[in-house]
Amino acid sequence: MKLQTTQVYIPPGVIDLGLGNPAPRLLPLDLLQQSAQACFERKDPSCLQYGAESGDGYFRRALSAFLGRRYGFPVDADSLFITAGASSGLDLLCSLYTRPGDVIFVEEPSYFLALRIFADHGLRLVSVRTDEAGLVIEDLTQKLRRFRPRLLYIIPTYQNPSGQTLSQERRERLARISREHDLMIIADEVYHFLNYSGLPPRPLAGYTQETRIVSLNSFSKILAPGLRLGWIQADKSIIRRLSLCGLLDSGGGMNPFVSALVRSLLENGKLDAHIARLKSVYAERIPIVEAALRKYLPDAVYTRPQGGYFFWVRLPGIDTQRLQEQAQAFKVDIRPGVRFSSRKGMNEYFRLCFAYYEADEIKRGIRRLGKCLQSMGQP
Ligand SMILES: Cc1ncc(COP(=O)(O)O)c(C=O)c1O
Repeated sequence: MKLQTTQVYIPPGVIDLGLGNPAPRLLPLDLLQQSAQACFERKDPSCLQYGAESGDGYFRRALSAFLGRRYGFPVDADSLFITAGASSGLDLLCSLYTRPGDVIFVEEPSYFLALRIFADHGLRLVSVRTDEAGLVIEDLTQKLRRFRPRLLYIIPTYQNPSGQTLSQERRERLARISREHDLMIIADEVYHFLNYSGLPPRPLAGYTQETRIVSLNSFSKILAPGLRLGWIQADKSIIRRLSLCGLLDSGGGMNPFVSALVRSLLENGKLDAHIARLKSVYAERIPIVEAALRKYLPDAVYTRPQGGYFFWVRLPGIDTQRLQEQAQAFKVDIRPGVRFSSRKGMNEYFRLCFAYYEADEIKRGIRRLGKCLQSMGQP
């Protein structure tokens, strides 16, 4: 038996620059210990009962207040549905709103593990181009003339892997297109609250009323992925459809116990304080990573991330899949761009995460990557 406790095993001595996990030292054991204590002191056993289908009402109320405050517009608790994380929300939406063989649109590049979920559902992917302002609307409208997609999946803010953010103007156009074409748009907004310079544009969560835009979000990046807790914000007709599904009829709402723990962190402001800490730690790493890229990978092309977890780095003329293979000998790993492409593209790119490792380790990893490139005959 392999006594592995976390999803990813990193061989000793290897620096995995591709890993998109939060820093272990920032996982808030102390906060959860306090909230567990408060929860048990309430002596209310309902958190251990089968939960309400759309999620515990008190929790949804606390979440709606938190979101309303952070987004700057009111969020109706009845527009929220509690999930076991963004991945579980996406999987459930695919179960209810797609059939095998359906076409769906995804960004090029897109989050590689969402692509795995779509593959599980037998969906056919058509990619839509992106640029520095996110999804290219002209390419979307052109493809809407050729295909009738069941949905569009998009990561509008601090995208995984590219770090790009969809501009405000394109958000408005996307909302119009959703209405005009009756197109379901699943906006995965898990990095929205991790902004390091200025505020992001209005979340797509703000366009969900009376459109078929669905906002997916999660506590994985702002608190801890092991909680397996997230939410969907959508028009009430979609929330009703989700709440009536067989999965919840049998099992009850998702994660009522964890919801009860996180509820007090929403109510007592400790989640806000924790997010502020995450932002300050992650933001400090960015200039250090940039300096290391300049020094050890002088040909690297990238845009400084304004939020989220990732640098999306292009190495002109380099096949990053080959680089990854060669990098094993130098004890460093990356995620090659092709993993994020639904059409086997992005070969000169790789994803570098600055959340998991401390800045010094990231620097060391980039130095190793530089040595590896030199060994391949590159500058
Ligand atoms: C864009 C995106 N969506 C979803 C997830 C997974 O979210 P969750 O842990 O809530 O399932 C990630 C994590 O890397 C992500 O980057």
